[in-house]
Amino acid sequence: MITNVAILASGNGSNAENIARYFVANSTVKVSLIITNSQKAYALQRARNLGIPCAYFSKEFWQDGHAVLGLLRCYNIGFIVLAGFLAKVPDIILQAYPKRMVNIHPSLLPLHGGKGMYGDRVHEDVLRCGEKESGITIHYTSEVYDAGQIIVQYKCVVKADDTPDSLATRVHALEYEHYPKVIEQLLKEL
Ligand code: GRF
Repeated sequence: MITNVAILASGNGSNAENIARYFVANSTVKVSLIITNSQKAYALQRARNLGIPCAYFSKEFWQDGHAVLGLLRCYNIGFIVLAGFLAKVPDIILQAYPKRMVNIHPSLLPLHGGKGMYGDRVHEDVLRCGEKESGITIHYTSEVYDAGQIIVQYKCVVKADDTPDSLATRVHALEYEHYPKVIEQLLKEL
């Protein structure tokens, strides 16, 4: 049995590509769909380069959820991965994928999370607060931003001379290393 995975991404999509490439060698998991809520998302180009079907939904369609859910069903999607996805997931989709939808956040939640806390803003906040460590949090998606049940966290140091960019690079490395493996493990446990 193959589990079809959909990845939701709003921007660059480097995690989406990393995850898709990781599962190419896996005969039971397939990244079958990439969805974005931004026409400018580079994730769309990455999907085309990888030969993965991709779709854009405007705010209105995204918030309604029915068309998105219809597409997920068309592709027989069994698991959803948020990777740099900035919109709230509508209840209709949350309810259709209980414990089957995960998100990654580039800090040690509950620190530096919540609405408006994304991208460089997270790393700027970590530095402003003088944290000595940061990292990533992989958690189930819920109706509240960054508040779903935490699955696992991985840490890295924050250096005294870090900039938001240098910290982001270290955090991204953690994401690339761990996110695909955690997804793989969760899929095995389904
Ligand atoms: C990642 O740092 C992820 O943790 C956060 O958004 C960023 C997305 O980066 N949710 P990319 O689009 O995968 O390059």
